[in-house]
Amino acid sequence: MNITFNEFILEDKHLLADFMTFDSWNFHLTVNMDRDEVLKSIEEGFYSNNSTRSFWIKDENEAVGFVRLFDLGKDVDDSETPLFDIKIHSKFRNKGIGCKAVKWLVDFVFTNYPNKFRIESFTRIDNTSMRKVLEKCGFVKEAQFRKSWRVLDSENVDTIGYGILKTDWLNNTVTPVEWDK
Ligand SMILES: CC(C)(COP(=O)(O)OP(=O)(O)OC[C@H]1O[C@@H](n2cnc3c(N)ncnc32)[C@H](O)[C@@H]1OP(=O)(O)O)[C@@H](O)C(=O)NCCC(=O)NCCS
Repeated sequence: MNITFNEFILEDKHLLADFMTFDSWNFHLTVNMDRDEVLKSIEEGFYSNNSTRSFWIKDENEAVGFVRLFDLGKDVDDSETPLFDIKIHSKFRNKGIGCKAVKWLVDFVFTNYPNKFRIESFTRIDNTSMRKVLEKCGFVKEAQFRKSWRVLDSENVDTIGYGILKTDWLNNTVTPVEWDK
């Protein structure tokens, strides 16, 4: 497997709409995305704007996943804490791509944005594979927001908040939260 990352450009909007609608996304509020809604959100800058950048995750030339990095701030020197959303197509899951992509993303942010001190990620408590990926990539559980993740036609579930520090990334360490401090 030869995983590469290519920045999303608007010219690829139909490819992105295909990607988002050819699969379903169980742990998201919108499990089955609507093609027109995806196209509209692309036009409105949801996937690329001043503080958002998105990347295809490709194996050879095939799009196997997509990652959207947001809250990057107004410019490359901004210190706002970024977040991300990652989607791997179901037939490519559990092959290590999610982990490779999150590691790439962390390297990308800390290498290209000198004033980023941390990256955050929030996921549903029952999204076991995402939680495993985050933990394998050096993220630490920092929060649990009870019954905060909306689920359509069902009761809310807990959200788990993770973070990775630039200092840990630089030193190849994982610093636990000091809960008793
Ligand atoms: C979450 C997601 C990005 C992970 O990507 P991926 O390519 O499958 O991840 P990886 O293969 O790198 O790692 C998945 C890990 O979870 C483990 N896993 C998967 N399902 C599991 C389960 N039900 N119980 C325990 N472990 C599980 C795998 O064994 C693997 O761990 P390992 O490498 O130690 O064996 C992918 O599943 C996805 O796109 N899901 C739908 C969208 C989504 O939920 N995105 C996150 C939004 S916050």
